[in-house]
Amino acid sequence: MTIQQLTSNSPRADLSEQIATAPISESFITQLAAEFFSALPKQNLQGFNFDLPRHSPQPKDPIVALSGRIPAIVEQTNLNPNSTQHFIEPIADHPERRILSSAPVIGGANTPDPLVAVNRLDLSLNSAPFSQHSAPTSIPVSSPAQASSGFYFLDLQKPNAVNQQTVQTRSAQSDVLRNPYAFDDYHFSQDHQLKSALQDRNDKPATAESGYYFLQSPTVETTRPHSDLQIPTTAQNYQPIDILQIRKDFPILQERVNGKQLIWLDNAATTHKPLAVIERICHFYKHENSNIHRAAHELAARASDAYEHARDVVARFIGAKSSQNIVFVRGTTEGINLIAKTWGKQNIQAGDEIIVSHLEHHANIVPWYQLTQETGAKLRVIPVDDTGQIQIEEFVKLLNPRTKLVSITQVSNALGTVTPTQEIIALAHAAGVPVLVDGAQSVSHMPTNVTALDVDFFVFSGHKVFGPTGIGAVYAKSELLDSMPVWEGGGNMIQDVTFENIVYQPAPSKFEAGTGNIADAVGLGAALEYVESLGIHNIARYEHDLLEYGQHALQSISGLRLIGTALNKASVMSFTLAGYETEEVGKVLNQHGIAVRTGHHCAQPILRRFGVERTIRPSLAFYNTTDEIDTLISVLHQLRRNRPYKT
Ligand code: ALA
Repeated sequence: MTIQQLTSNSPRADLSEQIATAPISESFITQLAAEFFSALPKQNLQGFNFDLPRHSPQPKDPIVALSGRIPAIVEQTNLNPNSTQHFIEPIADHPERRILSSAPVIGGANTPDPLVAVNRLDLSLNSAPFSQHSAPTSIPVSSPAQASSGFYFLDLQKPNAVNQQTVQTRSAQSDVLRNPYAFDDYHFSQDHQLKSALQDRNDKPATAESGYYFLQSPTVETTRPHSDLQIPTTAQNYQPIDILQIRKDFPILQERVNGKQLIWLDNAATTHKPLAVIERICHFYKHENSNIHRAAHELAARASDAYEHARDVVARFIGAKSSQNIVFVRGTTEGINLIAKTWGKQNIQAGDEIIVSHLEHHANIVPWYQLTQETGAKLRVIPVDDTGQIQIEEFVKLLNPRTKLVSITQVSNALGTVTPTQEIIALAHAAGVPVLVDGAQSVSHMPTNVTALDVDFFVFSGHKVFGPTGIGAVYAKSELLDSMPVWEGGGNMIQDVTFENIVYQPAPSKFEAGTGNIADAVGLGAALEYVESLGIHNIARYEHDLLEYGQHALQSISGLRLIGTALNKASVMSFTLAGYETEEVGKVLNQHGIAVRTGHHCAQPILRRFGVERTIRPSLAFYNTTDEIDTLISVLHQLRRNRPYKT
């Protein structure tokens, strides 16, 4: 029985009777609810509007982060990982965390410090061989045979359990002073300075000047270290964003799974698509669909314009100087393969070395491994410390005259570590080595500016930044694109063909053989415009709050081990739960409508570095909320109650 059957021509009494006699089950009620909500007027869904939905800026002052909620800093025993008592009940609502009440606005806190720039300081403060304020002009370059840095790939396969004690006893207070965004596994109750500062913050209304969420320590270096990154420094640049309003742009977030509201915490695997993207693709197929041979006819011109507009948007979004630096590919994996099989084959020979980090996704290992097998080159690996941050001093030792490329992720998909790409690029360039940055996990969480970074290659996937699957982009500097040989051959990429000779198009066309994924490229452009409409700085700030909230709450669960505790992280909260297989936890979460990825996340070397083969990996996007995290935490507490943790 459907809601139409129930309601069609039925007087109210009949309807009640039918409902009364209908077989009531959870799935029946779910079906009725789904039909009811889908029958509601859908103004946004009707017709395509070229004006992207814009979200009104929320009042600047006072700013209430996280829907009036901030991480629990009052009920500290709840979140004290060493406490034997846990008071969080298996329900989604935790009034004790609602320290600030009920403002309808959910928004990123509005504080004046640049997120990315300060975070990137951390390694340089600890260990980098140059001042945080200036790029090195020369660096120590090791010899290829340097014994202390023999991080050849194959040497690092042995599991190496993390020393958790070391992690837990690290000086939390000094971390906070060094980095105002520091999240750490210390206890708030033991840190009186922090506690009183937070209390002080709670007692006063927030202002744009004071900032709200983050502590302003007098000892924190607030000078922007990377002025070329174009990161806003004033509070006005951080507009809080209205998450509840934004969630309405994502129809799939209304899905019900196992009778529960879907909670999508699998954003590192893929992100959901806003109506702006869904409708843009729909519009393309309804009104523009053609191959992109512009001059042929009207629809060809429309399709060509839409496709090239998307290329312009990609260029703008990542800060490229020109859209001619952007090659459309299927995604990050294809992008790295393109570079390995063109530039790599052209430039890397026997005895040469390629540096990757221990954090890499298989997509940034396998193509280079294959190249080393073909050429006799060697893969060398930057190790990570016990928090999962790369050891930049070891990177410096690895650089040597044989190094031909550094290829490194900007954010680890398995741990969430944000790597110090700025420093790595500066160091590599000082040694004359080009750098590829894998932006698959970073573009949706932080500002990207390939020109400011001076990166040589940058790759990302559309589906991880709210765009369609099967589309992504390679950025490369013009001189590299011009000198790189073509890889796939066919139509679209040629100027002239005879049986004796072929003249190729200039880049980027020479790398786009055949009919590309035109509609999805257009959809990707719409996705990036959507993100621009929210403001990637606002997103970064909101997500930082959310990640800090989530990581803190996770540590209230006994026997839960966070894998990846670097100070500078984005989105990912990988963990294991003692006494449970990861898949078991994933299944239970799914029963509660919570989607997380469990497994090795296509990053086996880094998980083995921490002595595990699999983790449970919730990963956040800007449409997630503290309520959703609370539900996750509640289910995990329930699991723990069902199977108590014995140390
Ligand atoms: N690379 C994607 C992930 O990390 C699929 O889940």
